[in-house]
Amino acid sequence: MMSTNQQVLLASRPVGAVREDNFSVVESAMPTPVAGQMLVRNDWLSLDPYMRGRMSDAKSYARSVAIGEVMVGGTAGEVIESHHPGFKAGDKVVGALGWQRYAVSDGAGLMKVDNPLAPMSAYLGVLGMPGVTAWMGLLDIGQPRPGETVVVSAAAGAVGSVVGQLAKIKGCRAVGIAGGAAKCKHVVEDLGFDACVDYKAGNLAADLGAALTNGKNKGIDVYFDNVGGEVLDAVLPHMNAFSRIPLCGLISQYSATEAYGVKQFRSFLVNRIRLQGFICFDRLDLWPQAMRELGGWLGEGKLQYRESVAQGLAAAPRAFIGLLRGENLGKQLVRLG
Ligand SMILES: NC(=O)c1ccc[n+]([C@@H]2O[C@H](COP(=O)([O-])OP(=O)(O)OC[C@H]3O[C@@H](n4cnc5c(N)ncnc54)[C@H](OP(=O)(O)O)[C@@H]3O)[C@@H](O)[C@H]2O)c1
Repeated sequence: MMSTNQQVLLASRPVGAVREDNFSVVESAMPTPVAGQMLVRNDWLSLDPYMRGRMSDAKSYARSVAIGEVMVGGTAGEVIESHHPGFKAGDKVVGALGWQRYAVSDGAGLMKVDNPLAPMSAYLGVLGMPGVTAWMGLLDIGQPRPGETVVVSAAAGAVGSVVGQLAKIKGCRAVGIAGGAAKCKHVVEDLGFDACVDYKAGNLAADLGAALTNGKNKGIDVYFDNVGGEVLDAVLPHMNAFSRIPLCGLISQYSATEAYGVKQFRSFLVNRIRLQGFICFDRLDLWPQAMRELGGWLGEGKLQYRESVAQGLAAAPRAFIGLLRGENLGKQLVRLG
């Protein structure tokens, strides 16, 4: 075991786009667990768009990271030393121990993975928070019926890739929106969506209309929104009567210095659209069922997933900036070992 720990701290709050100097990578003393605690070695760090919000001090649903504090983040790893009755050395665990190689935990928010169904990294993606978010937003809030059309933005990412595949499992037509031809090809050919529209090609309104016209003219029954902004505006005119919008994220807005004003608001009224924002941790009661079903579909080969992996904790700031720019395919991770 190493004698020192490595951590990434928030050094300053970004204004606009995140920069590498908003973070500092430091060596620190190895933490020591006391009675009721354990020492965990983090092997995987999850990078997620919500971290942009935690870097800011604007009011949100969760507390900001303080300057000089370890960045928050989901982790997967192994218990190295335990003084906790519920955990022993060698246990595989998933939790939110932050951007650091080692952490002391009292077990709060830590989940033991006894018989992993997939490599531990999957518990930060398809079998973890992003997978559960897709399940909850689409199935609990979106309530798609067989034959309906589901559209999802950031379709090649961690959440979006699961949303479209769940839509197919439920007998819907799945249309993705993603940045670039390569991502769209992946979404259709590897993930099995019916179509995918490249919003960076500069013709989103027309291309989306063409992708939705599948023999007969059909609109959208569920729009799973991960991005907000101009993409939401392009989608709104295509919404069907009594359609649903699970509002999962607004990534196009996270680094914006001026809020985007939605122009097609009229569609909410004329189409009687139900929009609901949600945070996956609001419904902890749904997690066991979501994880059971996702695990089942993964085992049956009905869910595919991709990972983009950066190597080493010091690479995390650059990889996080890449995630916000769309450089990732599937789940963005950092391998810490
Ligand atoms: N509500 C919840 O509980 C919850 C939980 C997890 C995630 N989320 C939200 O879900 C969304 C997706 O998260 P994720 O973890 O799955 O990330 P991700 O999709 O794996 O990665 C983010 C993707 O966003 C896209 N993007 C970046 N800037 C954009 C822009 N200006 N316009 C359109 N797309 C843009 C990029 O893909 P392209 O190359 O396609 O642009 C990028 O790859 C985020 O908004 C996140 O905050 C919400």
